[in-house]
Amino acid sequence: MALLEVRGLCKRFGGLQAVQDVSFGVEPGTVKALIGPNGAGKTTLFNLVSGVTAPDAGQVLLRGQAIQGRPPHEVAALGLSRTFQQIRLFPGMSALENVMVGAHVRGRAGFLAGLLRLPSTWREERALEARARRALELVELGHLAAAEATSLSYGQQRGVELARALASDPALLLLDEPAAGLNVRETDELARLIGRIRARGVTVLLVEHDMSLVMQVSDEVAVLCFGQKIADAAPQAVQRDPEVVRVYLGEDEC
Ligand SMILES: Nc1ncnc2c1ncn2[C@@H]1O[C@H](COP(=O)(O)OP(=O)(O)OP(=O)(O)O)[C@@H](O)[C@H]1O
Ligand SMILES: [Mg+2]
Repeated sequence: MALLEVRGLCKRFGGLQAVQDVSFGVEPGTVKALIGPNGAGKTTLFNLVSGVTAPDAGQVLLRGQAIQGRPPHEVAALGLSRTFQQIRLFPGMSALENVMVGAHVRGRAGFLAGLLRLPSTWREERALEARARRALELVELGHLAAAEATSLSYGQQRGVELARALASDPALLLLDEPAAGLNVRETDELARLIGRIRARGVTVLLVEHDMSLVMQVSDEVAVLCFGQKIADAAPQAVQRDPEVVRVYLGEDEC
């Protein structure tokens, strides 16, 4: 069974059909890329899958369970986590504290227990901190745990975001343009990191414009254009697909 399956997803904004009847699956343990020109509907699709936006029609199935229209925190608790196209770190907090916000998704002690500083909360807080540290180490930023997150370099801030998404120990990780703004060396490191994440059994759905990264890390590539899926196959097959080539060379409309 696919870990994630979307069926007939549709989303309209006023007169614009941002996502139109899109279906695809992501097999467990694989990396799937979602590519397409600016405005193709990639981020909108991520928002539909992660519960940020409710679809007009269609289904999102996680391990066969319908989750469309559920709020983001419920979707996150089911094992789906994501990063955002624009970095969203909390200023005035350390890298570690920012990552702990992600680890909290899995915490059981409630808000009230937290306020009362019950022993159960304290123990849980320590466990969350340990998990957040492991996530920071995985992205090779363990040595910067105490640094203020927004004082880090752009590439490091992207790493903290990724660690935050990993800290909840997700089954499925959605990355929205993780290489945006990274230099060549940082992009190479990101490719290796995605490989390590995959090797840990985390399934990845990746939106990315950097084609060499996409070709390097993906098992499958789906292509969106004006809200519609126009290809979905192995990377080499997608690269040779005449319609995909047309879209990317801008010779024609899809
Ligand atoms: N909340 C919204 N209200 C109105 N229109 C929106 C909204 N969100 C997205 N759109 C529009 O929907 C279309 C798809 O946008 P989306 O952000 O999903 O594209 P994208 O593929 O992620 O593009 P990019 O590669 O530039 O990030 C665009 O035309 C965009 O302007
Ligand atoms: Mg986008």
